[in-house]
Amino acid sequence: MSAPNKSYDPVEVSALQPAELDKARDAAIAAIAAAADLDGLKAVRLAHAGDRSPLALANREIGALPPQAKAEAGKRVGAARGAVAQALKKRQAELEEERDQRVLVEETVDVTLPWDRAPRGARHPLTTLQERMADVFVAMGFEVAEGPEVEAGWFNFDALNFKPDHPARSMQDTFFVESEESDVVLRTHTSPVQIRSLLSRELPVYVVAPGRTFRTDELDATHAPVFHQLEGLAVDEGLTMADLRGAIDAFVTGMFGGGLKTRFRPSYFPFTEPSAEVDMQCFVCHGASAEPGGEPCRTCSSEGWIELGGCGMVNPRVLVACGIDTGRYSGWAFGLGVERTLMFRHGVEDMHDMVEGDVRFTLPFGMEI
Ligand code: FA5
Repeated sequence: MSAPNKSYDPVEVSALQPAELDKARDAAIAAIAAAADLDGLKAVRLAHAGDRSPLALANREIGALPPQAKAEAGKRVGAARGAVAQALKKRQAELEEERDQRVLVEETVDVTLPWDRAPRGARHPLTTLQERMADVFVAMGFEVAEGPEVEAGWFNFDALNFKPDHPARSMQDTFFVESEESDVVLRTHTSPVQIRSLLSRELPVYVVAPGRTFRTDELDATHAPVFHQLEGLAVDEGLTMADLRGAIDAFVTGMFGGGLKTRFRPSYFPFTEPSAEVDMQCFVCHGASAEPGGEPCRTCSSEGWIELGGCGMVNPRVLVACGIDTGRYSGWAFGLGVERTLMFRHGVEDMHDMVEGDVRFTLPFGMEI
C-alpha cells in the first residue's frame, strides 16, 4: 500500500525556503554592489534578475503550489525580487552618473588649441585695389559696369573709332580667339565697356568698369600680358574737360590724400578727342625730388610726377556709333592701369610678384589697402 498523499508544503521546495531566498537575494545584492561599470551590471542583471536567475526560477515554482500556499510564497519571492530590482536601479543610476562624470573629464575639449590647420589665403591686392579705386567713383555717384573678356572686334575696335589698319588690330598686339578673321579678341582694354554701357543704359551714363585686359606684351618688370584697368565714362548734357579734371582730382584725393596737383599732357586715342595722359604729383616727395638739389625719390624716379593713365573727351564718332545725339550730349572717359597703381602706391618694384601667386607677397596687404 502506498503512503498517503502528503499535502504540498512550500517550505519543502528548497528554492522557496526563506533561507534560500535570502541567500539568492543577498548574492544578487552583493554582485550588484560589486559591478564596476554598466557592462558589468548588465551581466549581473541577467544572472540575478533574468529569466534563468534563482529568484525567477523560484517564482516559477509558485505556480505548482496549492492555492493556500501561493500567497505566502508569492509574498516572500516578491519581496526578494523587489529588493534586487531596487538595488539594480540604484546601482544603475550610480554607474550612469560615474560614466557621465568620466566622459566630461575624458572628453574635455581644449578650446585654446589651434583649430584651423589649413593656412588662410588672402585676397589678391590687385582685386582689393581695383575695388578701392572703383569705390572712389561709386562715392561720386558712378555705377559699376561690366563687359566680357572675350569681346567682339566691333566693340573692342570699330565702335571705338579704330581704323581697320590700326596697328592694335594686328596679331602682334592682340590675342585673337581662333583666327584673325574671326574678329573675336581678348579685350585689349576696358574701353569696349563704354560702348556696351552706352548701348544698354539710359542717358545720362556715369559708370566705372574695372576688369581684366589682355595684350601680347612680354611679362617684365612693368608689363604683363594679362593686366587690369579701371575705365571711367560720363555722358551727359554739357560735360566738359573741366568735369573730367574735377573727377580725376577727386580720385587722387580719395586714393592718396589732399593737396596733390594733377596735370594733363596732350596724347592720342582714337576714341577720345581731345585726348590726354593724366599725371599726379608724387605723393611721396610732392615734386621736391625734381627740384634742383632735391632728395632722390624712388616712387616717381625723381620725376616729381606719376603717370595715372589716359583720358579725354569722348570722340563724337563713338557717340554716333551708339546712336547718341551729339548736339545734345557730350562725355569724357579715362582708363587707369591697376597694376601700375599698385606698383607706385605700394612700392612694388616688379610686376612678376603680382602674377607668381606667392602668398608671402599677397598676405601682408590685408583686406583694405
Ligand atoms: C588704354 O588702354 C585706353 N583704353 C585708356 C583710355 C580709356 C584712354 C578711356 C582714354 C579714354 P593705354 O594703352 O595707355 O590706354 O593703357 C592704359 C593703362 O593700362 C596704362 O597707363 C598702363 O597703366 C596700363 N597698361 C597698359 N599696358 C599694360 C601692360 N602690358 N601691363 C600692365 N599695365 C598695362
